[in-house]
Amino acid sequence: MPGFELFDQKEIDAVTDVLKRKIVHRYSFQDIRGGIYRVAEFEQAVAEKMGAKHCLAVSSGSASLYVAMRASGVGPGDEIITSPFTFIASVEAILECGAVPVLAEIDESLNLDPASVEAWITDRTKAIMPVHMFGAAADMDAFREICDEYGLHLFEDSCQAMGATYKGRSVGTIGEWGTYSLDPYKLLTVGEGGLILTDDEELYDRARFYHDHGHMHDAGIPRGAEGKACLGFNFRMSEIQGALGLVQLEKLDGAIEKLKSNKKKILDGIKIPEDVQLRDLPDRGGEIATQLVFLMSDAESARAFQKASGDAGAPCGILSANTWHYARHWQTLREGAYYSRLRCPYDCPYADEIPTYRPVEWPQTHDILDRAVVYVMDIFMDDLRIERMRKAIQAGFNAAV
Ligand SMILES: Cc1ncc(COP(=O)(O)O)c(C=O)c1O
Repeated sequence: MPGFELFDQKEIDAVTDVLKRKIVHRYSFQDIRGGIYRVAEFEQAVAEKMGAKHCLAVSSGSASLYVAMRASGVGPGDEIITSPFTFIASVEAILECGAVPVLAEIDESLNLDPASVEAWITDRTKAIMPVHMFGAAADMDAFREICDEYGLHLFEDSCQAMGATYKGRSVGTIGEWGTYSLDPYKLLTVGEGGLILTDDEELYDRARFYHDHGHMHDAGIPRGAEGKACLGFNFRMSEIQGALGLVQLEKLDGAIEKLKSNKKKILDGIKIPEDVQLRDLPDRGGEIATQLVFLMSDAESARAFQKASGDAGAPCGILSANTWHYARHWQTLREGAYYSRLRCPYDCPYADEIPTYRPVEWPQTHDILDRAVVYVMDIFMDDLRIERMRKAIQAGFNAAV
């Protein structure tokens, strides 16, 4: 799955070039950098490729969500509806703003279920934030309709889905803003990094200022003389990551092609029983094929499948046991485990109804994840491995029936 599979001399050269020139700060040092700004080049290349007016690079995918939310004015008293099947960063970004994450249900796409969202809308709801899990888009038309009807913001956590599309548009460019993670598990990686995409110039400026201590960037004057628009913090990307990102971006389409081809080879070589389904994706052609998921008829079949597949040499997971991505396992969220004496939003006077985040709140999600078996796909998979996977999947289907 990850882009580091593709690291070669090009990445080494790009990073070495930055180190040789000794300019690692994305801003500043105008007099000695010879007009070279790798992070800015990377941002521009991503914006062009994805079809967004603006792109801001930051220090991580988590930071991209947090900075975008701060730029959108998310704060105490706000509620953001999102998915209980995501990485905890989606929820932490909301909490870090002092706002309340409201976790609705997923559907068989494994993404936020639009039908489950309306029941959670209150007069405190500020935004809906679908998460495009495992490289495949959520049903954005449905979310746009709900947001328009209720006057809500639409954000996209597209951290796991850079390169995926929904009805021809890149995920991350459909809501008011979208994000990508460039961490070591992602298809395009720079070690650690994140990207925010938006068409909204004002929002872009606020994010840009906030991510760098409020600096109103002006390459024409020394950094120390720049004005400050707001209080902020440091979520800057370095030139080393910018240079790496530029090279990795050139490889993104090829990587997606390989993943899709690997998945197709596997699926073409197996017969899926009638009571087993693939994820019910609103745009199957737009996924980036980083995972292969089968939805079995029940939890028992999923367990039998998992055992048989593992015995046949291709281990797979059952998603209800996925502690990374399923909120049921997040003890720290249930407890509000902060180090500070006052824990916002848990002890916040603006947030009197904090959800308990207990597992019983997501019966639909639990039923789906309990019967979902998952394989992680790699960019490089030889024929032997593909054949082994096909046989293991077939063994899994036979064991489950
Ligand atoms: C859905 C989702 N959101 C946010 C993040 C956070 O990204 P990062 O690890 O770059 O901070 C991740 C990372 O895996 C993710 O999967």
